[in-house]
Amino acid sequence: MSELKGRKLVLGVTGGVAAYKAAELVRLLGKAGADVHVVLTEGGARFVTAVTFQALSGNRVWTDLWDPRMDNNMAHIDLTRDADAILIAPATADVMAKLTHGLADDLLTTLCLARDCPLLVAPAMNRQMWEHPATKRNAAQLIADGVTLFGPAAGEQACGEVGLGRMLEPEALCEALIGFFQPRVLAGRRVVMTAGPTFEAIDPVRGITNSSSGKMAYGLARACVQAGAEVVLVSGPVSLPMPAGARRVSVRSALEMREAVFAALPGADVFIGVAAVADYRPAASAEHKIKKSGAELSITLTPNPDILADVAGLPNPPFCVGFAAESRNLDEYAEGKRKAKKLPLIVGNLVQDGLGGDDNLVVLYDDAGRHPLPKAAKPELARAIVAHLAGLLPKV
Ligand code: PMT
Repeated sequence: MSELKGRKLVLGVTGGVAAYKAAELVRLLGKAGADVHVVLTEGGARFVTAVTFQALSGNRVWTDLWDPRMDNNMAHIDLTRDADAILIAPATADVMAKLTHGLADDLLTTLCLARDCPLLVAPAMNRQMWEHPATKRNAAQLIADGVTLFGPAAGEQACGEVGLGRMLEPEALCEALIGFFQPRVLAGRRVVMTAGPTFEAIDPVRGITNSSSGKMAYGLARACVQAGAEVVLVSGPVSLPMPAGARRVSVRSALEMREAVFAALPGADVFIGVAAVADYRPAASAEHKIKKSGAELSITLTPNPDILADVAGLPNPPFCVGFAAESRNLDEYAEGKRKAKKLPLIVGNLVQDGLGGDDNLVVLYDDAGRHPLPKAAKPELARAIVAHLAGLLPKV
């Protein structure tokens, strides 16, 4: 996916051991479509050479305030003029202190002072340095000045100590950056979602389930988080990484899913039912593994509660979004479900287009009619669905 396509980024690399991770970050940002221009401080160059960054970014690397390669000798101005952001990763305690006080004694700090684009900082330092009152003051001042901090994370440090101060991993930083550029159309909203299949046990080893992968729901959870929402994802059994910033509640059966949804619901502005919930479950689950006898075996099924219909039927329901997975007659069946469950919005898809795969083809149905979206990767569709639903939410 090219989620940073068309974005020009200035990446400042300062002198911390996490500088080696900046090389991978450049690769990931480039893969996401960004045009990355690295500014390496003297300290940063002690850990990784300019050659590495040049090879990975495909752009010349800047190290010197007095670089003669810039025609007008104004690297400190020109480099950021058409940049979408400056990201400093890793950012040492020293560079944070300089930024706080407006010092400009090298190319990177001068660029930051002369910039007209957002400044993003990924701190990386020993835990005592991060906990030091001076660093705390500097971090607070930077935030007050409109700088965005990504991390730091907790964990084992290069010095052998354990605590807060590690730079976020390159994947997490790339995610944070993608999120930073998204419109905050769900800021302040709380979203509860269901995801994946349910598993209805027949005995301790067998059960009824379906081939929902959870990709659509997890993509939607990620898009909601990046749009500024607080997200609780009540998820059936899937093996997907959790979208950064969302809270996951793992469940197996439809009954567990319903219980977890209702526990998470107080204060929710939006409920999105993406899960492929089993409509039926075995009336009784055998305590022990059913032995093979060679004779026919019948399993009595009993209907599961409809979680979405129950939420939408509450006296003061959140804004409810349903999904309809059909194998034919999409318009008729999807709109029928929307009306039956009294939903302001339903997302219709054919199982042959959307179940299990990376892409989907969906139609949105609301009071204004049907809104087909072009076939796309699920994360991309998720953003379009979020934009549409945000436009329908009552203003706060
Ligand atoms: O997980 P993926 O592989 O990415 O695939 C995505 C998807 C195809 C599963 C997804 O796009 C989708 O369509 N999800 C809804 C699947 C479904 O169960 O549709 P339905 O038409 O049977 O149910 C209608 C709505 O009622 C859904 O919002 C469903 O979550 C909800 N429901 C259904 C039954 C039930 N007992 N409780 C419910 O809440």
